[in-house]
Amino acid sequence: MRPRTADVPVRPFTKSGRGRPRSVLFAAGAAALAVAGAGGTLLAQDATRSVWTGVYTDAQAQRGQGAYAANCQACHGPELRGVGEAKPLAGAEFLSNWNGLSVADLFERVRTTMPQNAPRSLSREAYADILAYLLKFNGFPAGQQELAPRSEMLTSIRIDAWRPASAALPREPIFIATQPTPAPAETATGPVNDLPDPYKADRDFFKLPPGRTMGSSSAVATDSRGHLWIVDRCGKNDCNGSNLDPIMEFDAKGNFIQAFGRGMLNFPHNIYIDANDNLWVTDNRAQDGKGADILVFTTSGKLLRTLGKPGVAAVGPDTFETPNAVVVARDGTIFVADGHEPGKGAARIVVLAPDGHFLRQWGDHGSGPGEMDVPHAIALDSQGRIFVGDRWNNRIDIFDRHGNLLAAWTQFGRPSGLFIDKNDVLYVSDSESREPVGYGHHPGWKRGVRIGSAKTGKVEAFIPDDYAEPDKVATSGGEGVTADSHGAVYSAQVGQKAVVRYTPTK
Ligand code: HEC
Repeated sequence: MRPRTADVPVRPFTKSGRGRPRSVLFAAGAAALAVAGAGGTLLAQDATRSVWTGVYTDAQAQRGQGAYAANCQACHGPELRGVGEAKPLAGAEFLSNWNGLSVADLFERVRTTMPQNAPRSLSREAYADILAYLLKFNGFPAGQQELAPRSEMLTSIRIDAWRPASAALPREPIFIATQPTPAPAETATGPVNDLPDPYKADRDFFKLPPGRTMGSSSAVATDSRGHLWIVDRCGKNDCNGSNLDPIMEFDAKGNFIQAFGRGMLNFPHNIYIDANDNLWVTDNRAQDGKGADILVFTTSGKLLRTLGKPGVAAVGPDTFETPNAVVVARDGTIFVADGHEPGKGAARIVVLAPDGHFLRQWGDHGSGPGEMDVPHAIALDSQGRIFVGDRWNNRIDIFDRHGNLLAAWTQFGRPSGLFIDKNDVLYVSDSESREPVGYGHHPGWKRGVRIGSAKTGKVEAFIPDDYAEPDKVATSGGEGVTADSHGAVYSAQVGQKAVVRYTPTK
């Protein structure tokens, strides 16, 4: 990969005035290049070498791919996922095995024991090439220099599964997608409000048991049977001290089935339902030995596991500060969006192995590329890309699973909630855009649900929030959003204390 310079659009990230001006740096071996027009500073960068600093070349990885196919693939598989006893050479398990060790350790291990049926049978160069391929496959960036075929030259390169926030990296090209139809710059980034609204609101869809009213909610999801799950804040906007059950199941017609979870949550913030129909409920407020954690339940209400330390809000490897939302990738890797306050506490995506142990994190407060403030929502598309509702920055940041920024989209508004269905339809709820300067300032943008494509970034429809005076309140309309397999949209509302169904009219 060549370092990219002039064609990196940096300007839109510094628009808010809050964001510090930033240079995007690219390591090129020992040299460092500064991006023209991005502040002009030329920074030296000689942090400790790690697999994040560009330690192999693309050409080398390509040679390695051929050598891998010839010598390793028969056992470890074409996708490096491993077959039987032959372990995976990519992904969470592989990375956590090697995290903290050096590339020399890996080189010697492979050279002296692999291929298992013929150790040391390849040249040193071929082993180095194969390692380059493994690094590339695992998402570590290419650079300008080849990986040397001698372990004494590799001992100083650390394998860090977790990308250090301080690293100035060779990056994949960053592009800022606006409306993909060619349009002048101003209208391309301007408000996206005037779109069809082919839905009819049904505010009384969910039938609660007698005496129970819906509280504030930002958590709604469907399970594999088409049942709907809502977590509300116990009839109010806070479950602390309540004896109501906030986790509620409804059938596909909105009839109440059951509820559980009393006394376990303070401020339920989101619900994610995984492929096995387990319910992942995030609670982003620590109080009274509860909260700042993620509780995982079966659909019958059995608590399966707890992530984070209940009642402890902290930015750490085994704690969350204010966990907003969680998703689980197909291989079981867990991604948590942590941080609900701009400028303080967490602003990070935490990556956990399927067993819950910490693998790495990325993100930091700010408005520069790859930075975030208030990562309020998270979703995965069909390619496993990670969409983060970067609310304070009025954009969606799209990352690969290693935290490399792929795109930043502004056309879906100020995201409080995200949902991507199996056809890559993207639903984004904007509950905060406001005209006046101050909280939620996002002039010209209306609140509501924008619906479009997670593939192309095109917005196709808009369900406006009908709250009469949005500029007078911090939140109105949906924060949580989901859709069912028939295309009905559900919007979980904190301000109006309601969950509304929007039924397609065509
Ligand atoms: C004949 C089958 C076979 C072939 C061919 C083979 N391996 Fe392996 N490999 C294994 C088995 C089995 C294990 C697990 C046992 C062990 O750890 O030694 C393994 C383990 C590994 C590990 C350790 C994984 C970890 O997470 O610690 C690495 C790295 C590795 N192989 C790399 C390679 C590379 C690179 C090649 C090609 C040069 C290769 N292997 C070829 C069977 C094979």
